[in-house]
Amino acid sequence: MPETSPRPSAAGGRSRILTGDTPTGQLHLGHWVGSVKRRVELQHDHDCFFIIANLHAFTTRADKPREIRESTLEIVKDYLAMGIDPAKATIFLQSEVPAISELTFLFAMLLPFNRVMRNPTLKDEIKVKNLGENYSFGFPLYAVGQTADILAFRPVGVPVGEDQVPHLELTREVARRFNQLYCGVEDVVEDDDHPRAGGVFPIPRAEVGKVGRLVGVDGVHKMSKSLGNAIFISDSAKEIRRKVSKIYTGRQSPTEPGDVSNALFQYVDAFIEDPARIAELKDRYARGADLGDGHVKVEVAEAIDRLIAPMRERRREFEGDDARILAILRDGCARANAAAEETLALAKEACGLGYFRRRLSID
Ligand code: TRP
Repeated sequence: MPETSPRPSAAGGRSRILTGDTPTGQLHLGHWVGSVKRRVELQHDHDCFFIIANLHAFTTRADKPREIRESTLEIVKDYLAMGIDPAKATIFLQSEVPAISELTFLFAMLLPFNRVMRNPTLKDEIKVKNLGENYSFGFPLYAVGQTADILAFRPVGVPVGEDQVPHLELTREVARRFNQLYCGVEDVVEDDDHPRAGGVFPIPRAEVGKVGRLVGVDGVHKMSKSLGNAIFISDSAKEIRRKVSKIYTGRQSPTEPGDVSNALFQYVDAFIEDPARIAELKDRYARGADLGDGHVKVEVAEAIDRLIAPMRERRREFEGDDARILAILRDGCARANAAAEETLALAKEACGLGYFRRRLSID
């Protein structure tokens, strides 16, 4: 048997979590509200792994490798600027952790083809990205790949948005099947008992955040770079004011009773810090007590600028310093490989592929 600990999640009292992003460009405030803020909190008392799924970016953009590399470095700069601390959390590249690709191959055998294709997130993407019938063989494989991204780290929890839940369901299925097929875990065993019953993989839980994706400054669609309705952490105070002033509410006058669930008030909830002030604004807005949209927008823009200013500054430090970004990634990839290689050795041993041990190092 390899000398590895079967349950890293329980080690040292810090439970392990894994989550990440496909690099598609700069991160915006929607990412901050929907996921990164939570990660910054989690890094203090969890063993955090943050994957940049740069191989997955190739599933729809194989013809744009330069753009993918660029986006990859940008996303790391945004993580760091937003407060992810590489001394606490591990930021790493999917492409530099070969165990993930190897597990993808093994896991692909545990899922019926039609089961993968039934994944609603995958179906949705085919529609939204207009892929029609012409997507590559590799495209649906990314869903299997994501199960490997996760299970390579044997985390107990995966903090994600609602849209990723189908991927987590698939991941849980793969983990159960692997443990049953190769580790002698009986199918009556409860999910939480799999490691105790000898399974290599814990059955990881999706931890869906309470805050969903933030609405964009068009007031209609969720914030997204491609829709042109996003606020970036590199935006100046002036740009923030200009963007916030565009938020559409449809309200006619400050004395008209307003709807405090509108787009503007989603921003009030997300960015104004003082709960008493939020309550006061809502009360006056709802009653139509002479509180205009313009006034609320000024307060929201100020609150966003207060949040972003230190991020903007930190981001500037990293711009033009790709060497520093690469050093952080190199360190993260080394730590990620240590964890993923341990898992892979256990998995290979379990399915009769435990021939030789190997040592991976990054130069
Ligand atoms: N598919 C995720 C997204 O588009 C990114 C991702 C890749 C991920 N691998 C992951 C998220 C593993 C959580 C866990 O946002």
